Amino acid sequence: MRRAASYEFVTDAAGLVLSGDGSRRVGDTRANVTSVLPPVADKPRFVAAMFGRIAPRYDLMNTLMTLGQDARWRRHVAEALPPPAQHARVLDVGTGTGRLGLAVRELDPAWRVVGVDFTIEMLRQAPGDLDVAAGDAERLPFADSQFDAVVSGFVVRNLADVERGLGEQVRVLRPGGALVVLETTPGPNGWLGPLYRLYFRRVVPVLGNVIAGDASAYTYLPESTLAFVQPARLASLLRRSGLRDVRSRYLMLGCVAITVGYKPHMLPHARRTL
Ligand SMILES: C[S@@+](CC[C@H](N)C(=O)[O-])C[C@H]1O[C@@H](n2cnc3c(N)ncnc32)[C@H](O)[C@@H]1O
Repeated sequence: MRRAASYEFVTDAAGLVLSGDGSRRVGDTRANVTSVLPPVADKPRFVAAMFGRIAPRYDLMNTLMTLGQDARWRRHVAEALPPPAQHARVLDVGTGTGRLGLAVRELDPAWRVVGVDFTIEMLRQAPGDLDVAAGDAERLPFADSQFDAVVSGFVVRNLADVERGLGEQVRVLRPGGALVVLETTPGPNGWLGPLYRLYFRRVVPVLGNVIAGDASAYTYLPESTLAFVQPARLASLLRRSGLRDVRSRYLMLGCVAITVGYKPHMLPHARRTL
């Protein structure tokens, strides 16, 4: 059994993980928390190695952990996209085994899907007829304004620099295009919150050990989820990245959220320089 290592990390007041080495400080609101989460500088290597290990069992684990609901959530992402024009292209960032890209294509085969991921073992599990590229979500290997839509599923909280990753998604999106983020939330308020944390912290690592032989990866999953921002904060990060009409929709009693925004035809900073 692979055991979880322990690290220190730093969050801002809203819980966004900023840094593992204190390099970015936000007033006096820092809180040190001992966790399995890696320092920011190590995060890309840590995340890629972890998904590399669990790739063959990733889809099965998702189905078991969510009782099959993950397929429904991905379909909601596809439904959130506007109808595609002819030859419309959608980028699935952190595509992994390609399930989100497939959900988009299944809903409307007019979408030409491109997936990008930095874990080759995950891409190897994707269907052969899906166009995929190896690449870093924080430095996307595409020119500006290439895609009519950009989607991601359970990826953003894995990024070392969330704002940079979102900025990259906005950069490759064409003006007028839609960006959709599917992500787990740190949990609902009220009675369900403690149950959600109990399930995530006690049940998921055991399931991960039995099914994927990797309790460590399935300890990282709940910890990275519980340390991530609420959808309202994610929505404000998307607005800060230049998107407009940003809205979040909660699924599964608030355990999962879909956040949608649109790239304006002229970004505010571009307007100022005219
Ligand atoms: C939880 S999986 C999600 C896979 C898929 N989107 C889904 O819906 O199941 C996260 C994926 O994001 C990828 N990922 C995380 N950080 C990345 C980065 N900086 N660049 C590219 N891919 C990244 C991982 O390799 C992994 O395949």
